[in-house]
Amino acid sequence: MKVCHMEVTRRCNLRCLHCINGDTALYEMDTSRAMQAIDRLGDLGFGLLCLTGGEPLVREDLPLLINKASERGILVALITNGTLFDDNFIRNAGASLSGVTISIDGPRSAHDFIRGSGCFDRATNAIALANRYGLNVSASITVTALSIDTITETIRWLDDHGVSDVHMNDLNMTGNALANRELLEVEWDEAKRHSLHLTMQLVSGDIKPTSADTCLANPETICMSRDGDIYLCSELMTNRVASSGSIFDDDVEFRIRSQCEKIGPCRCKYTDFSSGSISVTLHNGLPCPHIGVDV
Ligand SMILES: C[S@@+](CC[C@H](N)C(=O)[O-])C[C@H]1O[C@@H](n2cnc3c(N)ncnc32)[C@H](O)[C@@H]1O
Ligand code: SF4
Repeated sequence: MKVCHMEVTRRCNLRCLHCINGDTALYEMDTSRAMQAIDRLGDLGFGLLCLTGGEPLVREDLPLLINKASERGILVALITNGTLFDDNFIRNAGASLSGVTISIDGPRSAHDFIRGSGCFDRATNAIALANRYGLNVSASITVTALSIDTITETIRWLDDHGVSDVHMNDLNMTGNALANRELLEVEWDEAKRHSLHLTMQLVSGDIKPTSADTCLANPETICMSRDGDIYLCSELMTNRVASSGSIFDDDVEFRIRSQCEKIGPCRCKYTDFSSGSISVTLHNGLPCPHIGVDV
């Protein structure tokens, strides 16, 4: 299935210490332009739209965009900090949502230290609400020095709270993360990465990883920035490197394929660990080789 991660805004109600989006650029497509972009995705045969930001829920028209995608036969997933996820939103958009990913950065103390006081409880409420409405609930953990020692505890907590998938992000040293590097950076070495793998196996009840996939930069999985530009992965989008043009370009499909060939195979690998109730996805931690290179 063709997947598009769409950055619907860079605005946010929080200022997380680790946020990749350090810039305050506020431009985003207005409702009608964003609807046209979703239409284009439908025309190009995209089957899954993952809405991200910034915080997608600061857009008052988010239910309209979600319902539009659903009308076009596109499944919609949402990644959110959970603080604005409420009954009203679900009433307006829940029927068109196939899943929601809520970010959890560790136990309450770490999460609130990174995101602000009260955010953990609000994210917890969002998880409960999404479960109550029967949505598929995932979580996203960004591994920082503040969370690495509590990963097992956090994943067990998520499992207990009805979360079925956990995606682990390595900290990308951009934006606010760069400004807070001393607090957040993990000094990775082979032993530490191996130990995290063992932890994943232990916590997911799995003896071996279920799969190891390569980089997501392929023509079937793209990212669309808040102005409609297309990138092959979120790393390239964040750094605004190697755009494949705009979703509105007539030849965007050709440009995506050409960009893939130009960039070639990547070093990113994602390993999945999965038991009956919870699956965990882990990145291999290698930095994107394309950032800072002319592609
Ligand atoms: C940019 S946020 C947008 C969605 C929403 N505002 C949220 O926090 O979930 C998407 C995911 O990226 C993660 N993230 C933010 N900054 C990051 C960084 N510097 N490196 C890696 N992941 C990061 C967030 O924790 C979140 O899980
Ligand atoms: S990580 Fe998400 S919630 Fe936190 S500041 Fe960034 S966009 Fe906002």
